[in-house]
Amino acid sequence: MTRRNKRKAVLVLFLVVLFALPGMMLFAGGQKGEQPDQGAAKVYKIRLHHGGPENDPTHYTAVKFKELAEEYSEGRLAIDIFPNLQLGTEAESLQVLRLGDIEMYIPYIGNLTPVAPSSGVLMLPYIWKSRDEMKRTVDAVYDDLNERIIKESGTRLLAVCPYAYRVLANSVRPVETIEDIRGLKVRVSKSNIPILAFKAWGVNPTPLAWGEVFTALQQKVIEGIENPYTVLVSTKFYEVTKYVTEIHYLLESKPIMMGEKYYQSLPPDLQSVVKKAADETREYIADQFENKWVAEAKETLVEKGMVLLGPPKDEDEWERLARSVYPQFYDSMGGKEWVEKFIEVKDSVN
Ligand code: MLT
Repeated sequence: MTRRNKRKAVLVLFLVVLFALPGMMLFAGGQKGEQPDQGAAKVYKIRLHHGGPENDPTHYTAVKFKELAEEYSEGRLAIDIFPNLQLGTEAESLQVLRLGDIEMYIPYIGNLTPVAPSSGVLMLPYIWKSRDEMKRTVDAVYDDLNERIIKESGTRLLAVCPYAYRVLANSVRPVETIEDIRGLKVRVSKSNIPILAFKAWGVNPTPLAWGEVFTALQQKVIEGIENPYTVLVSTKFYEVTKYVTEIHYLLESKPIMMGEKYYQSLPPDLQSVVKKAADETREYIADQFENKWVAEAKETLVEKGMVLLGPPKDEDEWERLARSVYPQFYDSMGGKEWVEKFIEVKDSVN
């Protein structure tokens, strides 16, 4: 080989190595899986806030959601639960959820309606005969309902979990007829819907934030509350009330919510994961309420010395009065057209 040919051969070899090297590295890396996919590896940390103590179904809802979302995302979602409204009141929580300072919140629906009126249709007095009815109806209107809630509040429904009827507990006397409730000082959430229902029954209720209720009962500022049997146990209301009347005006539900801005920042596969985890959580929670938690709570309350009176003797009258003021609810529920559409859908799927 001449000196000229030798130089040419070295140059060709140099060029081959120069151009082939990146491809060889990529191939080697791909084979060993060493090229980290930044998107897939990122862990999304979620703060999930709620207002129940750790022995309350709201906490069990949060725990179930965490378990499923972490499993289905294979660890890409990491959820920290904050119970007992430790990050702020209901109103503050919805505000920070919208702004993105927390990512998720499980409120009582009656605490969502002040900022998302369209969700109020879920609280129409005496509308629900069963949890299945609520589930079927929400599934049928989910897209419309969610679009409205996002527009009104900047927060998104992942699922609505049907809990239990909010029964009436008071410290003064057995309430067995509508006459008996009149004159009692009853606390309701700060939603216009229970306020109007109680007014229809001849009671002027006291709207109060959740965090103030126990002390207000202790100090007799209020004498009665409406909450599910399970809450009478978890919040120890049996210490400050005595008589329970099983009214059926409101089947409580708790939505699993995410800030809309945060939801939109998640990759599409994780958006599907949070929806699937929320839907499965709803099934679990509805089943536990249906078959276990309400019955267990009633037993505990009797052991604690409470008097469970069953439904009022004249509950038809409670229902008639509450239904007679339906038109007054429209403004607190996103308007007449929406309420009528919701009822129509509800009737068509049940
Ligand atoms: C309320 O009465 O304000 C609610 O039921 C509180 C809650 O359960 O989050």
